[in-house]
Amino acid sequence: MNKENIDIRLLDPASVECPYRDYQRLREEAPVYRMPETGWYVVTTYDLCRKVAKDWETFSDQLTDWSQETLWSNPEIPEIFEKEGWPRDAILSRDPPLHDMYRSLVDVSFTKSRIDAMEPFISGLVNDLIDQFIDKGECDFIRDFAYPLPMHVIADRLGLPPEDLPRLKFWSEEWVLPHAHTMNAEREVACARNIVDLQRYLVEKFEEKRQNRDDRILSDLVHGLFNGERHLTTREILSMAEQLLVGGNETTTNAMSSGMMLLIQNPDQYALVQEDPKLIKNFVEEVLRVESPTQGIFRVAVKDTELGGVPIPRGSMINMRFGAANRDEKIFPNADKLDVCRKNAGAHLAFSTAEHHCVGAPLTRQEMNIAFKILFERMKNFQFAPGKNDFQHAGNFMVRALKQLHITFEKR
Ligand code: HEM
Repeated sequence: MNKENIDIRLLDPASVECPYRDYQRLREEAPVYRMPETGWYVVTTYDLCRKVAKDWETFSDQLTDWSQETLWSNPEIPEIFEKEGWPRDAILSRDPPLHDMYRSLVDVSFTKSRIDAMEPFISGLVNDLIDQFIDKGECDFIRDFAYPLPMHVIADRLGLPPEDLPRLKFWSEEWVLPHAHTMNAEREVACARNIVDLQRYLVEKFEEKRQNRDDRILSDLVHGLFNGERHLTTREILSMAEQLLVGGNETTTNAMSSGMMLLIQNPDQYALVQEDPKLIKNFVEEVLRVESPTQGIFRVAVKDTELGGVPIPRGSMINMRFGAANRDEKIFPNADKLDVCRKNAGAHLAFSTAEHHCVGAPLTRQEMNIAFKILFERMKNFQFAPGKNDFQHAGNFMVRALKQLHITFEKR
């Protein structure tokens, strides 16, 4: 039964900062809960989140599109893209079977052999970043490490040169801005023009890749055949390239910073992984489970339906709350505890499941595993820098993002 009068306000800053008690109450009292302030249905148990993710015929990803109407308040924006750049699309948010045809063109870039082959490159980057702060005995972990690493990695994967990183970073940040709904009309125009600059930059790169094929993602997309029949249009490639460039940066940064925070907060678990590096893999899964960087993802009910006994009218927005599902005691006993020896740690839903399961998951896992392995090899005794951390997160309902993390350490 849906209990609208339950005393929970998930959008209140205090709940966004620490939602876990509210999640627990919702799992127990109203696992499918209609938020009175928005009308969204929030789903908090593991089984029901999986059910929504798998049933695309009822709960579609397609209509949750970051369509122009919902992203921008200024009605002039779609015209800017039409006239000065390319209309924006969310190709990978299509429902099957169209989704699977697009997705197969991206999946080829994330095969195990391709990801394994990145090991020396990622290790080199990790060591270079560490070299820049190791002698100081302290660092701003997000600024100096967790932020630059994923951006370097994805630029390389896409086949973009390292000298373009500063502008790629700038464009990435502009790209996600409209999702926060904080800009005035004038700023939205500037933001849209910056995204058009990114589009033009990428389209130039597509041309270069058409002439000179390599083993990177943009090349795969430019040369790939949709359904084995035709090349993708510029608009289709742009949609996927933009989503890949931006999709994994902030999330991976947040996962790495949460990982470092959890490590220091749990000295018993820190001692275990430090002693036995084989446990790093499970540690990474536990970090993704306990502090899921993407707290929730939307779907739209495309027909009248029912979920967990709650009637859901057609057109309703459903928010799968992965941050809550990943602490469901029925699946993960003692779920609030980081447990690097947990047998089913990898069963979390931080990357979602089914058709839209995160395409970048193997890359993130590879980056995090290498990063923590080398951090442990080169440094020890990680601690919070005294007086420098407030452990606050960005006040964003959708993501779990530590704002800052200052640490100290000893060089090995
Ligand atoms: C900790 C890091 C990451 C987290 C927590 C994360 C999480 C997610 C989640 C929850 C979804 C949604 C699936 C759904 O709609 O059901 C998703 C989709 C996606 N992610 Fe990630 N992601 C991460 C890293 C990455 C990286 C590194 C990339 C790019 C290389 C990436 C690219 C994408 C793309 C393109 C999709 C859309 C897939 C589709 O709809 O078929 N993500 N991710």
